[in-house]
Amino acid sequence: MLVPSVETPKKIPAFFNPRGKLVREVSIVCYKAYAKLIGKSELTFADSMAGVGARGLRIAAEIEDFSKVFLNDTNAAALSFAKKSCTINGLQGKCFFSVKEACTFLLSREQNAGERFDVVDVDPFGTPAPFIDCAIRATRHRGLISLSATDSAVLCGVHPDVAIMKYQGRSLRTDYCHEIGIRLLFGALAFSAMKLEIGIEPLFSHHDQHYFRVYSKVKVGNKYARETYSQIGYVLHCFKCGARGIVQFKNTSKEGYESADLACIRCGNKSVSLGGPCWAGKIQSAEFASTCAMFSELTVFSPEPDIPLYYDLDYLSQKLKIRTPPIGKVLEELCASGFKAGRTRLNPKAVRTDAPLEHLEKIVARLAR
Ligand SMILES: C[S@@+](CC[C@H](N)C(=O)[O-])C[C@H]1O[C@@H](n2cnc3c(N)ncnc32)[C@H](O)[C@@H]1O
Ligand SMILES: [Zn+2]
Repeated sequence: MLVPSVETPKKIPAFFNPRGKLVREVSIVCYKAYAKLIGKSELTFADSMAGVGARGLRIAAEIEDFSKVFLNDTNAAALSFAKKSCTINGLQGKCFFSVKEACTFLLSREQNAGERFDVVDVDPFGTPAPFIDCAIRATRHRGLISLSATDSAVLCGVHPDVAIMKYQGRSLRTDYCHEIGIRLLFGALAFSAMKLEIGIEPLFSHHDQHYFRVYSKVKVGNKYARETYSQIGYVLHCFKCGARGIVQFKNTSKEGYESADLACIRCGNKSVSLGGPCWAGKIQSAEFASTCAMFSELTVFSPEPDIPLYYDLDYLSQKLKIRTPPIGKVLEELCASGFKAGRTRLNPKAVRTDAPLEHLEKIVARLAR
């Protein structure tokens, strides 16, 4: 693999981030799992922002089920590295290169050949928002879209207004802000898809350093758009006591929320904050994650319960003015007291549990002694 000789990522002459290794490795495993589950060979992959080809070339070299990998970038210098690496690795028959704006590239295949890609990846600097519509239009029924976002401050609640502009939903600066970021990304995908009578099915998501990555199946048809709509909702957060909840549109009345719904059920605070609208359903497919685990021992693929809005134990302990207890012990106690509990790939110091917050607080306080 040929890469520009720079220590830290530079955009000129070409972008290559060696620190993105884990994120790239996770993506290769996800594409392997997708190919296995879809049970098809001769798959096509659109690397719409290929850079020096670090992702696209690995797919061509390592995943047999992908017979055509299209590498595109506006940066011709970056692509010339990719082309040389392609030749060095003997991948010429499988890889196709173009220097186009990502949306022009993504839509050209449909225009020219009436075909869509099986997998579309969008890996920009910053937000993927401007490319989401094109990515959906370019993906076939039951195809896969993967998106990267590195605008952490927007997704994590530092700039909630920008989150509305980019993702149509408000972010919230909470201890589980990375989950809201992931939900906003799936939400933005869902909003773009529904306009086109297309639905989405989130398969996997993770977060590493400043990267957010989401993987979603695309399903063409109004039936799927309606199913998608039922999974959109709001996150409700009380900044006074830390209580949190998620509500899907399908579970609200026709009139939407009564203002009484927005009071905190725990402490009575009348100004609970709203995050979203965003994806309020599952943010992983357990089948997809376990298929990934067959290809990789990375802990990011460990099973995780489908319980929304995790609790960060460091944050909770700081609030209670105690030392953070060991996470394993907290999980043991939660399970022993009859609740579901597990870790999350979005934060190594956090737990997902259906236990009420006061119960979790009691356990954390007891274990910290
Ligand atoms: C984060 S890098 C991609 C890294 C690459 N996917 C990898 O795994 O190494 C972002 C790339 O997007 C390209 N880019 C930015 N805006 C673009 C656009 N509108 N259309 C096509 N490429 C674009 C940049 O030239 C840059 O190479
Ligand atoms: Zn409260």
